[in-house]
Amino acid sequence: MGNLAGRIALITGGLRGIGLASARRLIAEGAAVVITDLDPPAEAEVVLAEFGPAASYVRADVTSESDWQAVHRHVLERHGKLHILVNNAGTDLTGAIETLALADWRRIMAVNVDGVFLGTRTFTRLLAESGAQVAGGASIINVSSIMGLVGMSEVAAYNASKGAVRLFTKSIALEFATKRMPIRANSLHPGFVETPLLHAGFERWVASGAAEKVQDLIDGMNAATPIGRLAQPDEIAGPVAFLAGPDSSYMTGAELVIDGGWTAQ
Ligand SMILES: NC(=O)c1ccc[n+]([C@@H]2O[C@H](COP(=O)([O-])OP(=O)(O)OC[C@H]3O[C@@H](n4cnc5c(N)ncnc54)[C@H](O)[C@@H]3O)[C@@H](O)[C@H]2O)c1
Repeated sequence: MGNLAGRIALITGGLRGIGLASARRLIAEGAAVVITDLDPPAEAEVVLAEFGPAASYVRADVTSESDWQAVHRHVLERHGKLHILVNNAGTDLTGAIETLALADWRRIMAVNVDGVFLGTRTFTRLLAESGAQVAGGASIINVSSIMGLVGMSEVAAYNASKGAVRLFTKSIALEFATKRMPIRANSLHPGFVETPLLHAGFERWVASGAAEKVQDLIDGMNAATPIGRLAQPDEIAGPVAFLAGPDSSYMTGAELVIDGGWTAQ
């Protein structure tokens, strides 16, 4: 058993990409994981078959308060406690500011910002109770992005949402610390990671005529990244496990950047 034996984790958007890799890693470290995502339960069966009894699934939209209540009921009934909350679900949007529809701006804010707020609010009490029982306390890991640290042309809504996640995390970290609540909160800032989200974004760029083919965009990203390549989801999951457990017991309100050197330039 690893560092997280006996701990219970909740990962939003856990059926693919960074969330799925994180679930795999936390389970390998000994945790039991509740995964939430938008897909109907039948579509989660492949993932659940891989993880066996260490995982369970609840279909839940992070923007819905009533869905969060259902997730809370599930966690209480199945485990009675929660030590790790990974607010990972997210979505992106690119485009010139003059073409940005208010509805699209609000959708990005709803998923990327409201989702993190609702998840945190729903589980603060249970995390505080459960965190008192484990070394290093409970841990909230909010998945921001390097796009929450630096701007990029035609990424205004996503930039704004991920910047909000960064400062929201610092605020709750300070609130928990000063109230001596045993919950740490840190934001995670991945660079460009090969996931369905990144590929869908590249495909939209190609469809809009901004590039000829997806491979050209991947080559361009590789060249623009100091380390010379995109990240794999597993390379983000290790830092998630680190922030989740006792090895990061003195970290709260911090930003963990995993970007192959992108923001060092
Ligand atoms: N891929 C990257 O390059 C990259 C870089 C930095 C940060 N991120 C962030 O990492 C997180 C995960 O991204 P990913 O690349 O693994 O994306 P992904 O699309 O591969 O996976 C995200 C998951 O979130 C789910 N999801 C989306 N909206 C949801 C909602 N309203 N409620 C519940 N679930 C929802 C999706 O169904 C999907 O399974 C996101 O917050 C993203 O912004 C990604």
